Amino acid sequence: MDKLFLLSLLGLFIIAYGVSGAFVSDSDIDMIKELESFDIEEEDDDDVYSYTVPVWRSERGSKILMNVDSFDAIGDGVTDDTMAFRKAWETACSTSKSVLLVPKEKTYLVNATTFKGPCKDGMVIQIEGTIVAPDEPELWDPKFPRQWLEFTKLNAATFQGDGVIDGSGEKWWAESCKKNKSRPCKGAPTALTIDSSSNIRVKGLTIQNSQQMHFTIARSETVRITGVRVSAPGDSPNTDGIHITQSTNVVVQNCKISTGDDCISIVNASSGIKMKGISCGPGHGISIGSLGKDNSTGIVTKVVLDTAYLRETTNGVRIKTWQGGSGYVRAVRFENVRMEDVENPIIIDQFYCDSPTTCESQTSAVKISQIMYRNISGTTTSKNAMKFACSDSVPCSNIILSNVNLEKTDGTVETYCHAAQGFGLWCCAPIGETA
Ligand SMILES: *[C@@H]1O[C@H](CO)[C@@H](O)[C@H](O)[C@H]1NC(C)=O
Ligand SMILES: *[C@@H]1O[C@H](CO)[C@@H](O)[C@H](O)[C@H]1NC(C)=O
Ligand SMILES: *[C@@H]1O[C@H](CO)[C@@H](O)[C@H](O)[C@H]1NC(C)=O
Ligand SMILES: *[C@@H]1O[C@H](CO)[C@@H](O)[C@H](O)[C@H]1NC(C)=O
Ligand SMILES: *[C@@H]1O[C@H](CO)[C@@H](O)[C@H](O)[C@H]1NC(C)=O
Repeated sequence: MDKLFLLSLLGLFIIAYGVSGAFVSDSDIDMIKELESFDIEEEDDDDVYSYTVPVWRSERGSKILMNVDSFDAIGDGVTDDTMAFRKAWETACSTSKSVLLVPKEKTYLVNATTFKGPCKDGMVIQIEGTIVAPDEPELWDPKFPRQWLEFTKLNAATFQGDGVIDGSGEKWWAESCKKNKSRPCKGAPTALTIDSSSNIRVKGLTIQNSQQMHFTIARSETVRITGVRVSAPGDSPNTDGIHITQSTNVVVQNCKISTGDDCISIVNASSGIKMKGISCGPGHGISIGSLGKDNSTGIVTKVVLDTAYLRETTNGVRIKTWQGGSGYVRAVRFENVRMEDVENPIIIDQFYCDSPTTCESQTSAVKISQIMYRNISGTTTSKNAMKFACSDSVPCSNIILSNVNLEKTDGTVETYCHAAQGFGLWCCAPIGETA
């Protein structure tokens, strides 16, 4: 068994190796200290588990319970309950202290809908039963090509419960260009979207078999996601677990994600994102990106992944950008990660090309810097336990490795390194010579 083993003492690295062997400045040390210490406060455990207590009996004052059944929902999984849900929403949204209840042991068939706010603050959406999407892509309302259940413009709302949101995605997957090459590549609905909202909590809930992405947080701030499960087959195309875009101050905590694409993906204009206690697999790992597609600008800063377990995923922790983009990824810390049989445990890919045609070479790129990997261990299935494929014209800088220990059961492990520079990183030298 060959090991990739890097020592843990960052200070030692700085003294011994410096930046490409050069002088380490005070600003480098400040940068590293800042990178090590950035944090966002998590939810406490009481908060996390309180969703099992019916909230309408909470001491915070009496809540007004609105059961979708009172709005003529049938809940047999066959009858179209869309109108009942829309009516229930209108009423609950305009009522103070309302709890919109989707009761347990029933299954509600609901079409694509935008549930619009603003609503009265403190609204609770309590999902105990199952909500299913119609399964036939041909009959999908063309007004909603990319969404199923979308909630927009909410403030101070809570989604919670032991219920299930099921996208019935099988037929959509079969029609994907990834499954059937003669089909055009086009988007499919996201099961649950929270858009243009603030102060949102999502606790419990299972989101499964989405048509495409499972759960998107878009254009929102201050979002706490706890104990959410995402589940879809490993070969379902583009079914990202939790996707964060244009959002700030988001914590994703104690979530278990099994899917056919990224377990978590963080894209443009997102900052202050913390992931804690994440289980991922199958799936494509935890990703920042993709960014920079079609020459676009992508900016992601201040991201922390602390404590994760990845099993049989194609990637572990990944940053992926297309050639031709601009913008930057800066101040990211991946730490306390355990991997088991992961293909590319640590990877920066600036030549990402998820396209049926080949991508042309371009010089501009999203700048990647200040990326820390700390206490990362486990097994890789490919020989490149670490792969830093950075842009020639815009190299990666300040990549910091500390206490990384990855091994392969039946072969040697190596680091692939192109245009990357940092601490604890012996660029392009076979690891056996330095460990
Ligand atoms: C829901 O979609 C079905 C087609 O799948 C359609 O027949 C029905 O009218 C839609 N319901 C509403 C309330 O729009
Ligand atoms: C792939 O798509 C084509 C065109 O839409 C269709 O005719 C064909 O039956 C599909 N193949 C499979 C295996 O579903
Ligand atoms: C990325 O976000 C920035 C800032 O919000 C915006 O100007 C830019 O258009 C976004 N890029 C893409 C590809 O959406
Ligand atoms: C991106 O920029 C390159 C170089 O300027 C150009 O050749 C290419 O067509 C652009 N691509 C898109 C999708 O705009
Ligand atoms: C390293 O990470 C593992 C989880 O992968 C954790 O159990 C362990 O406590 C961490 N070690 C330190 C020193 O934080």
